[in-house]
Amino acid sequence: MPKKLFVTIKALRDMPKIMNNYNYDFKRYLKYSSSVADNQRIKLEAQITAKYHVIEKGLSMPKPRVGFGKDKVSLLISLLERYIGLGYSTETTQIKAAVKVLFEYFEFNDGVNDDHTLKLKIRANNLIKNYKVDDNVGGIVITNREEFLAKTNDNFKEFAFSRHSVRNFSDKPVDLNLLIEAIEIAQKTPSVCNRQSSRVYIIKDKEKVKEALSLQNGNRGFGHLIDKVLIVTSDLNAFKGLIERNQSFIDGGMYSMSLLYALHYQGLGACALNWSVGKGKDIKLRKALGIQGSENIMMMIGVGNLPDKLSIPISKRKDINEITTII
Ligand SMILES: Cc1cc2nc3c(=O)[nH]c(=O)nc-3n(C[C@H](O)[C@H](O)[C@H](O)COP(=O)(O)O)c2cc1C
Repeated sequence: MPKKLFVTIKALRDMPKIMNNYNYDFKRYLKYSSSVADNQRIKLEAQITAKYHVIEKGLSMPKPRVGFGKDKVSLLISLLERYIGLGYSTETTQIKAAVKVLFEYFEFNDGVNDDHTLKLKIRANNLIKNYKVDDNVGGIVITNREEFLAKTNDNFKEFAFSRHSVRNFSDKPVDLNLLIEAIEIAQKTPSVCNRQSSRVYIIKDKEKVKEALSLQNGNRGFGHLIDKVLIVTSDLNAFKGLIERNQSFIDGGMYSMSLLYALHYQGLGACALNWSVGKGKDIKLRKALGIQGSENIMMMIGVGNLPDKLSIPISKRKDINEITTII
């Protein structure tokens, strides 16, 4: 039998198996993600984290608008009311962080006294009046360029703890060579069978930067300060069969993390930007930038030079006992 025909027959034979396994992924996603039911503690806590993070991020913007984010605050309060109403423990890092962020939000908006804000203050106060929160459990810290970069040549633990997503940038353009060197470092990322499916697009054209960011849903309030955008993709051409159907996201995700570390090492400010979109936007971005159909888009990374002074959200991590199982 000609080899080409053999390959085609084999692919057709494997297709039902691949579909069956995608169906397995689909059912698990429907059953366990928060897409359908969301009253379980772990689901509610994740939603609370996402909501407080938006407000924490808002407080860290270069110029936060007084009175910003009332709808988001209202949603956060509703989620906390539901969480507490269901009797779930508030002694978790994420609930403490949410409470601290609410404190900081109302501190920032101390002088705002419109009806909506006053109602929110009353609802929040009912929830948080009994909590005592420590300083570093949530909210923002203000730092400067030197302090932010002080640990970039230190040991790995110090280095890793000193990296933060940056959303405040100066107007100095990013040197392309620094990005190339960061990619060189990220090239050391391990990948399955060393297949190296990751690809990086450097967008330096201002109009293209604007266009890409206009399709991305997480850069409000700071996107206009981003100088260059990196897009990390992972090429499906490197993978085969049903067992590798999700491998591109693992290799590409690991690569993206290396790149984020490398950008910090290069003394640049960087923020991962989700590419959580439906197919319409995915197709639009591919068209706008000429990204191959075979490449899965992992994320964008907004890059800029650090300003002299910057605010960063604490983005409190869970305690290890909240996430670790020893078997
Ligand atoms: C895949 C991914 C997507 C993200 N998307 C966004 C985004 O759209 N906008 C944003 O401001 N931050 C985004 N972030 C940054 C996270 O908010 C940030 O990594 C998290 O809060 C932890 O904070 P840290 O990076 O400062 O340690 C993203 C991070 C990852 C890993």
